[in-house]
Amino acid sequence: MAADESAVLGRADFERREQRRRTLFARTWAAVIPDVFKDVPSYYRAGNVVASFGLWEVWAWQFVRTVRLAPGDKLLDVCAGTNDVGIRLLRRQPEIRVTAIDRSREMQDEGQRRARHYRVAIDSRIGDVHRLPFADETFDAVTLQAASRHLQLDRVLPEIRRVLKPGGVFYHCDMLKPRRRVIERLYLAFLHVSVAWTAMIFGSSASSRQCRDYFKLAISNFYTAEELSSVLRLVGFADVRCRKSVWGGMVAFHRATRAPRD
Ligand SMILES: C[S@@+](CC[C@H](N)C(=O)[O-])C[C@H]1O[C@@H](n2cnc3c(N)ncnc32)[C@H](O)[C@@H]1O
Repeated sequence: MAADESAVLGRADFERREQRRRTLFARTWAAVIPDVFKDVPSYYRAGNVVASFGLWEVWAWQFVRTVRLAPGDKLLDVCAGTNDVGIRLLRRQPEIRVTAIDRSREMQDEGQRRARHYRVAIDSRIGDVHRLPFADETFDAVTLQAASRHLQLDRVLPEIRRVLKPGGVFYHCDMLKPRRRVIERLYLAFLHVSVAWTAMIFGSSASSRQCRDYFKLAISNFYTAEELSSVLRLVGFADVRCRKSVWGGMVAFHRATRAPRD
């Protein structure tokens, strides 16, 4: 991964952007998203594959390949959902210890079912990730895949940094805002259609259908890959690296380190 030193977003911009995201989405985050993930667990993975024409699997596979762990390392998977990341990592490296946290009991129940199916053990916590229920400097690594669009980053990222040991690494992957306007337009148009056909195929709930506009707005008000690198540095991470995906910046893989002495 290439080191990313560019500063494209200042602290004031970051604060303004987070304030805007809160104003636009606070109600959806608090009241609608929890409902969406009650309905989704049984078809979550298949739904992602259908909605993305299979690209989801490629992204998830590419993401876990960026994660470097040593035997005995403690990993926290934030917004773990159905434990996609934890299971992939444990199958690759059974000697690590994985803790999952997610607000949705239904997603975690499905995650535990999947963990049993793959014969791996994942410790599960149910809770809101804006306050992580772990002591300072607990984990060697933290992962966050496909969820930061739904979170207040000015609260969550400092929490993630707090629970990382000095020298520990944060790995992030999500759908981001493409830097080029034309790619963003195509991407949002694609999302509009794909969310609709996925809802139709899997018979999604009213809450999921209600989110059709939210999914697009969440991306157009989110960060580009370059901006996210700045955000990670602004909240105190060091050695921020970004490997932009080949999909025009629609998805990117970031890694950032909690400095060994800070
Ligand atoms: C799109 S899923 C991603 C799940 C998993 N990381 C993956 O890649 O398959 C988003 C997850 O974030 C969780 N989530 C959203 N907001 C949350 C919050 N404030 N606290 C805890 N979990 C949250 C949802 O319950 C859901 O399981």
